[in-house]
Amino acid sequence: MQNQDNNNFSISHKEPGQFEETRFEKIHNTIFKSSEIASKIVAQEIAGLIKEKQSKNENCILGLATGSSPIKVYEELIRLHQEEGLSFGNVITFNLDEYYPMEKDNVESYHYFMHENLFKHIDIKAENVHIPNGMIAQENLDQYCLDYEAAILNAGGLDFQLLGIGRTGHIGFNEPGSHSNSGTRSITLNHITRADAAQSFLGINNVPRRAITMGIGTIKKAKRIVLLAWGENKADIIRETIEGDVSSQVPATYLQSHNNTTFVLDKEASSELTRIKTPWLVSSCIWTEELKSKAIVWLCAKSKKPVLKLNDKDYNDNGMSGLLAEEGLAYDLNIKMFNKLQHTITGWPGGKPNASDENRPERALPARKKVIIFSPHPDDDVISMGGTFDRLVEQGHEVHIAYQTSGNIAVSDEEALRYAEVALDIADDNNETIKNVILSLQTRKISKTDEIIIRKIKGQIRRKESLGATRYLGLPDNQVHFLDMPFYETGTVKKNNLGSEDIEIISTLIAKIKPHQIYAAGDLADPHGTHKVCLDAIFAAIEELKSKPFMNDCWVWLYRGAWHEWEPHEIEMAVPMSEDQVLKKRKAIFYHQSQKDNVMFQGEDSREFWVRVEERTENTADKYNALGLAEYTAMEAFKRYYF
Ligand code: F6R
Repeated sequence: MQNQDNNNFSISHKEPGQFEETRFEKIHNTIFKSSEIASKIVAQEIAGLIKEKQSKNENCILGLATGSSPIKVYEELIRLHQEEGLSFGNVITFNLDEYYPMEKDNVESYHYFMHENLFKHIDIKAENVHIPNGMIAQENLDQYCLDYEAAILNAGGLDFQLLGIGRTGHIGFNEPGSHSNSGTRSITLNHITRADAAQSFLGINNVPRRAITMGIGTIKKAKRIVLLAWGENKADIIRETIEGDVSSQVPATYLQSHNNTTFVLDKEASSELTRIKTPWLVSSCIWTEELKSKAIVWLCAKSKKPVLKLNDKDYNDNGMSGLLAEEGLAYDLNIKMFNKLQHTITGWPGGKPNASDENRPERALPARKKVIIFSPHPDDDVISMGGTFDRLVEQGHEVHIAYQTSGNIAVSDEEALRYAEVALDIADDNNETIKNVILSLQTRKISKTDEIIIRKIKGQIRRKESLGATRYLGLPDNQVHFLDMPFYETGTVKKNNLGSEDIEIISTLIAKIKPHQIYAAGDLADPHGTHKVCLDAIFAAIEELKSKPFMNDCWVWLYRGAWHEWEPHEIEMAVPMSEDQVLKKRKAIFYHQSQKDNVMFQGEDSREFWVRVEERTENTADKYNALGLAEYTAMEAFKRYYF
């Protein structure tokens, strides 16, 4: 039940309560280092089941899910078919759900999804595939649902059901309020579910309001259930589902009474579970430096005391007597923690020249550092570390900004049209290219793909906005690099996987500049995954380059900010900002006009980025202050990545 870092591990079900660390947990779960590794293990379990059934000449009945969670499981099943001869000849599938109404060939249909992501790549018989039909006439819908339910029973019942989980706690499309015995039926989608789907449908108004879904009762009849959850966005609902009471308000909690369910999680999705978040409350701990900091910061919040006021009783009453026994007195522990936090604070993110760096987060030398700030989209630099960016430039470092993707998909058609019309007015009225852009924008239907020329104008809008901001912060244009990583250039919300050409672009830039500092976005709650791909590309490039001598002098700092922030126990460098600096940063963010008002990819938080980020930097400052450190207006936070 520890984090699993390799493939030699089965996820077979164990009774809840069998392990001490599951004291708070009511559903068996396993936590993997990454969703890639976990997905392979799940695919292996499915493949094992298919083969076992084959050996007995039996059919294997699989319940399948759509969405982002199962994609890598399907990729591995396809690989097993193509490279290792796994046959799906004996497999019968039933999909969980489909939007209603929804045509089969609509790219947003689950029908399309399943064919693209699995069925067209394997040898399953067409007649063995069942996906609820989103075009069934309203008057036949109830009977259709009964028939779907009956078809599962007639096939022999589900041997294995794969699930994802929505942030509402839905499984299938069983939204809050669903009954534990519900069968296949039509339902109304919850607002949060529709908001989560809005980006793929290019706006919430295009997301269907209804769906057909297998019921909770249907799902629970499966002999084996595996639920997948990846990423921090799922962490809260995973904790509620695994540790909370069974409730129709969180339909996934009904799985607590299924006797063969495993939740397969990555580290991020498990991060709110009690045994991960506050392991000292669950069992005795190995007190690493990181865990000590985490526990002490937590204890301060719990007891509402600054670090230096914690006493032996606070530690003993809160599961931390083991730490006290190891370290001696609360007094000594407190001082160490206070100093550690104090030493993370610096107004000199590039190091303070002519000062001792013994207790500072960055080296004093070289006094003038070469710095690359990688920004996944063309605004994350100022949103997430605008204050630090400003200080680095002002303190004389050679700062380079590298915008990893063009960000073109996030510019609305109206915005692009406005620019194209201005361009046409001041150019020659007969400029054919601009006229074509305008025509294409005016006549465009809601489709998934932006034409190249539209992508170009949208990308250029973002470039010019970025240059507005970097010039405002005093950076020469030749230190601004637009990398336009190819994985992003699909013209759709769905991006390609990271490729070697993407990594090469990053490593070429690093090798050319030979930076002393790299800043990268470690903001992995970004809802559509671009930040993660961009970070993976940087990590891969660093891996390639790390044997080069210049890399010995290169420190990598991870920032967050647009979506969430590092917690005080994680922070290794905290850069305070004055009120003036907060305003300057706000103005830099304002240059990204196309991302203001009704921006398409906000995630669940509908406030504009500058508002969210000011709240976050203020929160970090308040948290430091509550721990007993000096009171600042705002702080940007960084964690070092060691390679
Ligand atoms: C999909 C389905 C849903 C999804 C859930 C999570 O067939 O039934 O319950 O599993 O909405 O979606 P992702 O995986 O995209 O986070």
